[in-house]
Amino acid sequence: ESELETYRPEYHFTPKKGWINDPNGMIFIDGEYHLFFQYYPDSTVWGPMHWGHAVSTDLVNWEEKPIGLYPDSLGYIFSGSAVYDGENTSGLGSSENPPLIAIFTYHDMEGEKSGKTDYQSQGIAFSLDKGKTWTKYAGNPVLPNQGIKDFRDPKVRQIIHPDGQKSWIMTLAVMDRIQFFESPDLKNWKLLSEFGQDVGAHGGVWECPDLLEMTAPDGTKKWVLLVSINPGGPQKGSATQYFIGNFAEGKFTPDDTMIRWLDYGPDNYAGVTWSNLPSSQNRTLFIGWMSNWLYAQVVPTKSWRSAMTLPRELSLIDINGTLLLQSKPAKELENLRKEEYSISNEEYPLPSQAFELIAEVEDEFTLEFSNELGEKLILSKEFGLVSIDRTRAGKSTFHEDFAAVHSSPMSWEARTIRVFIDASSIELFVNESEITMTSLLFPGSPWKTVSLSKGLEDVRVFSLKK
Ligand code: FRU
Repeated sequence: ESELETYRPEYHFTPKKGWINDPNGMIFIDGEYHLFFQYYPDSTVWGPMHWGHAVSTDLVNWEEKPIGLYPDSLGYIFSGSAVYDGENTSGLGSSENPPLIAIFTYHDMEGEKSGKTDYQSQGIAFSLDKGKTWTKYAGNPVLPNQGIKDFRDPKVRQIIHPDGQKSWIMTLAVMDRIQFFESPDLKNWKLLSEFGQDVGAHGGVWECPDLLEMTAPDGTKKWVLLVSINPGGPQKGSATQYFIGNFAEGKFTPDDTMIRWLDYGPDNYAGVTWSNLPSSQNRTLFIGWMSNWLYAQVVPTKSWRSAMTLPRELSLIDINGTLLLQSKPAKELENLRKEEYSISNEEYPLPSQAFELIAEVEDEFTLEFSNELGEKLILSKEFGLVSIDRTRAGKSTFHEDFAAVHSSPMSWEARTIRVFIDASSIELFVNESEITMTSLLFPGSPWKTVSLSKGLEDVRVFSLKK
């Protein structure tokens, strides 16, 4: 493997070349998971945005496809979603061949440069060949801007009203608020309500929302609203918060005013969920962009920049009477396991640079990954804090905020940990994902040894390979 590719992960999605950020338009159709993404093929920094495209049948092996959407005279193609318009409400397909509809933000760069405020609007495109090719709707934009600078990232879903009627709901990020719009046909949109004043974190602009219908462990129906925020995350820069509550009569009402974070690591942003999953599976599948706007454009990869997180399955859990959103590694990841090693010594050689480690912990624990360069990555729980210390874990001079210890509060007992390492990232899940932390790392050479310093038992390592 060439030196330039040292940081290329084995089992996370990365583009062959160029820059990516947010996952977009994720939809499942005919056995295929489609992943579109913010993409600038001509450089490894952000630029004129396209929707890149990749397809997988197992959430692990991704095949990159031709670009899905190109910028046009209305602007760059910013983030958005895709739905299956099974009843052809849009009229853009037929009842024999219903269309997929992508709903995205147009960002008019010229408008922004000339000092206008109405440079973001929502457009749609349709596909009549199950997502392979897309045609932009001639009547774009479908939701013009009314002079609000930040007006973007439409996530559309269908809802069924109490009287049985269906309509499309668009969840849109508008400055540091959410606006909900409704449409019968994905072309005509009417504002329903606004959410976010006096609740949630407001240290930055709100982006990439998602509105999910989920079931609490006691069987009650809940609505969960994901909202990415940048800056203003718990580890500086970008992060994803969420609200648990109810969505009825066009309004989202949170159950409480608690601020909740989906992931306490620094590098999981703009994540949203797949649409059109078979209802029999009853799954909420999520993927995020594994980076942070603080330093995303200067991390030391060469021909490509940024990966997606592992695909994760979201569910609601109850921790001592508080509902939280759990994000578990998708079960398909178990298919990556190749060799299994049981570790009893305090120091153990690691089999590869792509591996998974599972252990039981005695609440407080410390383990360390190290290499022959003296670099180390330290994971621990102490004094009610789960931490990832990447201060000595490799390259960090590219940005002053990169070398840091990131912690998540965990006031209850830790019993198990699950760790995924893949060349330049770590994802840590404590107690079946009650706490999740995602972090990038750029060690000068792969981790060679794991040292069990404190509080670990039944440690197992799996080498992972596609
Ligand atoms: C989030 C974001 C979105 C926007 C896109 C532009 O990371 O800023 O709000 O649509 O990236 O690439």
